[in-house]
Amino acid sequence: MRRLLVTGALGQIGVELVPVLRKHYGADRVVASDLRAVTSRSFTAGDDYERLDCMQPSQIFEVMRRRDIGAVYHLAALLSAVAEKRPQEAWTVNMDTAYNLLEAAREFRCQLFFPSSIAVFGPSTPRQRAPQVTIQRLTTIYGVSKLAGELLCDYYTRRFGVDARGLRLPGLISSVAAPGGGTTDYAVEMFRAAASGERYSCFLAPDTRLDMMYLPDAIRAMIDLMEADPTRLGHRNAYNVTAMSITPAELATEIRKHLPSFAVDYHIDPMRQAIADSWPQSLDASAARDDWGFSPRFNLAALTRDILAKLREKMKASGDERLKCETSHDHARID
Ligand code: NAD
Ligand code: SER
Repeated sequence: MRRLLVTGALGQIGVELVPVLRKHYGADRVVASDLRAVTSRSFTAGDDYERLDCMQPSQIFEVMRRRDIGAVYHLAALLSAVAEKRPQEAWTVNMDTAYNLLEAAREFRCQLFFPSSIAVFGPSTPRQRAPQVTIQRLTTIYGVSKLAGELLCDYYTRRFGVDARGLRLPGLISSVAAPGGGTTDYAVEMFRAAASGERYSCFLAPDTRLDMMYLPDAIRAMIDLMEADPTRLGHRNAYNVTAMSITPAELATEIRKHLPSFAVDYHIDPMRQAIADSWPQSLDASAARDDWGFSPRFNLAALTRDILAKLREKMKASGDERLKCETSHDHARID
């Protein structure tokens, strides 16, 4: 059986996706990779890891040939807030890496997973239950690169028969790695502050409504989509998926059910607020449900219970009263 390659595996999604893929397909079948050197905090020593810059086609081709790769989860990218700070770099990184991986997938007859985003929608898209097929006059460079990535994936499928599949992911809430410079990062930061007994200063306004999903649900959706019968996929790139539509104030209220003294104040970052205001407040995920059975397990209450328990456990294990970031995201700096 050919192996799976995960690019950008040291990021927020990758550090949780890789162990799930290894459990599902076997540890010897999953190769993790990233631009950065692996640290003891991200994967354990001896894990199958390749240092791989997805901007370098020769490195990609060499790894894919040597490791006999048959499917790629291509996670390497710059997220929305970093991208808006450094638009030229974001266009180059997001588009060149997508093109390089698609070319490699064509050459090695590989399956490719492409993570798209709610950022492919803009202010003229319906704000409630944004449809699967709708107007997409978006206003951020991140959104432009994600929509171009979706179209490029569809082109490679039609023109070269590459089996490319994608999800339009909402903000992802997770407990292991720090988020990588997105607009929805406030949710992860709020949980970390709450679990550490700290006040949280939120960079979005309290009533900013956006779609979110717990990372374990997103990972299950990625694997389900990659394993789905291709004849049932009406919208390969990419399917709307979501689990909840929430505001920072609603998230804080839910956390206070467990930690009543948790306090939040609001120091709005105009750039991230403008990005959030340009996105829909909710997505219609019915195409994903109908075509391949998408069905998230965690609503806001279940997610909050689960993530607070995991964060507390982690703090107890490290003997630390504060949660430190597991990954140093140089590429994700937005200051
Ligand atoms: P992240 O920023 O946490 O991680 C991205 C990883 O890519 C980093 O570890 C970085 O070192 C690596 N990387 C950057 N440039 C690279 C290169 N040239 N070669 C190899 N690796 C490189 O991002 P994430 O949150 O894990 O997101 C992964 C993917 O999912 C991205 O494409 C993102 O756009 C998409 N996505 C994420 C979310 C979310 O909420 N996290 C939502 C929608 C879509
Ligand atoms: N969570 C991501 C971001 O905020 C959406 O793609 O950038």
